[in-house]
Amino acid sequence: MTDEQRPYGSGASDPTLKRVRTRHFKSAKENGIKITGLTSYDFMSASIFDEAGVDFLLVGDSAGNTVFGYDTTIPVTLDELIPLTAAVVRGASRALVIGDMPFGSYENGRRQALETAIRFMKETGCQAVKLEGGVRSAPQIEKIVDAGIPVMAHIGFTPQSEHGLGGHMIQGRGDGAEQLLADARAVEEAGAFAVVVEMVPSAIAGQVTAELSIPTISVGAGPLCDGQLMVWTDWAGFGSGRIPRFVKQYANLRETLLEATRTYREEVEAGIYPAAEHEYGG
Ligand code: KIV
Repeated sequence: MTDEQRPYGSGASDPTLKRVRTRHFKSAKENGIKITGLTSYDFMSASIFDEAGVDFLLVGDSAGNTVFGYDTTIPVTLDELIPLTAAVVRGASRALVIGDMPFGSYENGRRQALETAIRFMKETGCQAVKLEGGVRSAPQIEKIVDAGIPVMAHIGFTPQSEHGLGGHMIQGRGDGAEQLLADARAVEEAGAFAVVVEMVPSAIAGQVTAELSIPTISVGAGPLCDGQLMVWTDWAGFGSGRIPRFVKQYANLRETLLEATRTYREEVEAGIYPAAEHEYGG
């Protein structure tokens, strides 16, 4: 759909909106308009994605991998994510910005979860928070929502529980489908405005999407969800390792930057850069 074809006032994908709000997620689902999200961890990428009309930016704890170089998302801390989230907020004037609550910042209970969500809201200016877990995290979601803070839930494969889940594995297959549905119902009931469904077979994700009144956002959960989200460094082709099956690379920035860096080094070594047009006169 082009920008001109998007009907005014019909949902989160309307480019004329001043600021995408959680209510637009609901109207997008009601009007069958797909919601688009990307992760972002800095001002520059946020401003580009915002200008291109992405509906929401998640400052994911995937920053643990992409920004800080940890093997998993488990070590990343709230103090590390706060400045990244604040930078993304400064870069986004339209997209809804969501802070991702890291491992260890909400599992202790409702009070700890609310304290973390309040820090995100006060110290970064983001408009919502996300946390992982279905039934087990419903009390925390309810507490945060009661305080007036919108929550995006996250079910299916939840990377912070990678070790408990037995590795990086597809969820919701076989008996797992009942648990996934129970998790989906629990987060809706707790007041989440949307739910990320990660690495789940498309048919089960479609069932969840049909049953819930809040939008489902797919991370490897197929086309039947109400929206899509990708880790931007995967999406832009930054990585050098194996990429998950669900990732489509929309650019090859690793190759572009490698080439540019090699050319720069060669030109410095050969005395080609800086040339006369790059010099200041006396
Ligand atoms: O941290 C993150 O980027 C995420 C998404 C993959 C859902 O949680």
